[in-house]
Amino acid sequence: CRVRHYKFNVVMKNMTRLCSTKPIVTVNGKFPGPTLYAREGDTVLVKVANHVKYNVTIHWHGVRQLRTGWADGPAYITQCPIPTGQSFVYNFTITGQRGTLLWHAHIQWLRATLHGAIVILPKRGIPYPFPKPNKEFVVVLAEWWKSDTEAVINQAMSSGSAPNVSDAHTINGHPGAVSACPSEGTYTLPVESGKTYLLRIVNAALNEELFFRIAQHNLTVVEVDATYVKPFQTDTILVAPGQTTNVLLTTDQNSGKYLITASTYMDTPIVAIDNVTATAAMHYSGTLASTPTVLTKPPPQNATAVANKFINALRSLNSRKYPALVPKTIDHHLFFTIGLGVNPCPTCTAANGSRAVGVVNNITFVMPTIALLQAHFFNISGVFTTDFPGNPPMRFNYTGAGPANMQTTNGTKVYRLLYNATVQLVLQDTGIIAPETHPVHLHGFNFFAVGRGVGNYNSKEDPKKFNLVDPVERNTIGVPSGGWVAIRFRADNPGVWFMHCHLEVHTSWGLKMAFLVNDGKGPNETLLPPPSDLPKC
Ligand code: C2O
Repeated sequence: CRVRHYKFNVVMKNMTRLCSTKPIVTVNGKFPGPTLYAREGDTVLVKVANHVKYNVTIHWHGVRQLRTGWADGPAYITQCPIPTGQSFVYNFTITGQRGTLLWHAHIQWLRATLHGAIVILPKRGIPYPFPKPNKEFVVVLAEWWKSDTEAVINQAMSSGSAPNVSDAHTINGHPGAVSACPSEGTYTLPVESGKTYLLRIVNAALNEELFFRIAQHNLTVVEVDATYVKPFQTDTILVAPGQTTNVLLTTDQNSGKYLITASTYMDTPIVAIDNVTATAAMHYSGTLASTPTVLTKPPPQNATAVANKFINALRSLNSRKYPALVPKTIDHHLFFTIGLGVNPCPTCTAANGSRAVGVVNNITFVMPTIALLQAHFFNISGVFTTDFPGNPPMRFNYTGAGPANMQTTNGTKVYRLLYNATVQLVLQDTGIIAPETHPVHLHGFNFFAVGRGVGNYNSKEDPKKFNLVDPVERNTIGVPSGGWVAIRFRADNPGVWFMHCHLEVHTSWGLKMAFLVNDGKGPNETLLPPPSDLPKC
C-alpha cells in the first residue's frame, strides 16, 4: 500500500457549451474534474486549495471513511467549509473497497461543475473477478446550465419557487449533438474491434437519474457503487445521481461509429425536468464517418419497466472472496417516510406565500452553523438534538393524497446508534405533493438493498420476501415513486453520517437527516481526533 498525494486547486475557468461562455468553478481548470486513482488499502491525501469566492468542501462519495469522518466533506455535517484563500488536506485510507466512486463539492450547488471520478483498483496482484479488460475508460455524466447554478438555487430558496432545470446533459463534459456549435466537440470513445473494455460510468448530475445506452452493443454489468455484482447483460443501464456502474463492453462489430446516449428517467409527469438527451460517439478505429451512423433511441423518459428490469437484475457477487455480509439480526427497525411538503412562507413570492420543503418523517432538516461532528466530538451543546424519530408521527396512506393535517416541523435532529448496532431502514416515498423517485445516499456505510416494492410497505408480509442472501450492496438507492425500499447495514463506523436525497434540489429543500454513531469500546472503534488544519466555523 502506498500514500498518494493530490493537489486540487479550486479555480474559476471559462467554458463554452451550448454556444455560450461562462465562468465555472473547477478543480485544476477541468470539467469534469481530474480522476483520482488509488488501490484498495492506499492512503490518499488531497490538498484542496480554495481560490474562488465561494466556500468549498469536497466529499468522497461512497468512500467508507472508517474512523476518519473529518475527511467526509459535507458542509456543516462533518466539517466547516474551506474559506476563500485557505486549504484543507483530506486524509483517508481506502479500506475494503474497489471499483468506481465519485468525488464532488458538498456545499450549495457547487457540485454542478465540481466533480470527478474515483477509481479504486484492486490490491496489486489481485485480479478482477471478471475477464480482464483490454482497456478502461471513465465516463462521467452530468448537467449543464447556461446560467450560474449558485444563482439558480439562491433565487429558488429565497422566492420559494422550484429552481430552473439544466439546459443539457453532458458525457465527459460535452452535451454532444444537441449543441449547435460543432467546434465545442463531442466526446468520442475510441475502440478497436474484438476487444473488451471496462467503462466506469458515474452519474454526477445534480437532479436527474439517467439511462445510458450504446447503439447495437450490450453491456455486462460487473460492479455498482464499488461493490462487485453477479454479471448480467443489458442494453440499457440506469444510474441515479451519486451512483456508479462498471460495465464490460465487447466490441463485436467490425467497424462503424455508434451513438451513445444519456437520457433522463423520470416517471412523475408534473415534475419539471431537463429532458435533453446527451450524445457521444463510440468510434471503431479505421472508420471514416464523422458523425455516428449507427443510431439508438433512448428509452422513453417514463420507462419505469426498463428501470425496474435493470434494478431487479442487480445482485451482490456474494462469492467466497467477496461475501455479502447481510445483517441477519436487527437492533433498530426504522421506518422513514420521505417526500416533499408545502410550508407557509410569508416572505416567499411564489405559490401564494408558500414553499416546497423536503421531509423525512415530517421533519425538514435545518443546517446547523457549527459542523455536527465537531459539536459531537467537543461536546458543544445546542447544535443538534438526538430525538430524530424512528417512525413517522402518524400512519396514513403514504402513496395516496396527503391528509389535510400533514404538518412538518423544522429541526436539526440526529438518530443515535451504538457502535456495531444493526439497522433495518425502510424508506417509504410519500405522495404529499406528488410521488417521485428519490435516490437516497447514506454517508459512511454501504448497505444491502433487501427489499423493494410499490405502494405502502407492509411490515407483516413484505419482510417474508426479503433477499438476505445476495442483495445488491451500495451507497445510494432509488426509492421508487410511490413505493419503498428496505436496506440493512451495520453501524461499524463512529461519527456523524449524513443521509439525504441525492437530487440536489431536494437536499436544498431539507430532505436530509443524519445518524450519530457512538464510539465503540475497542481501540479501533473510536473516531480519530480532528486534523489540525480542519476549517473553523
Ligand atoms: Cu454524493 Cu452527501 O453526497
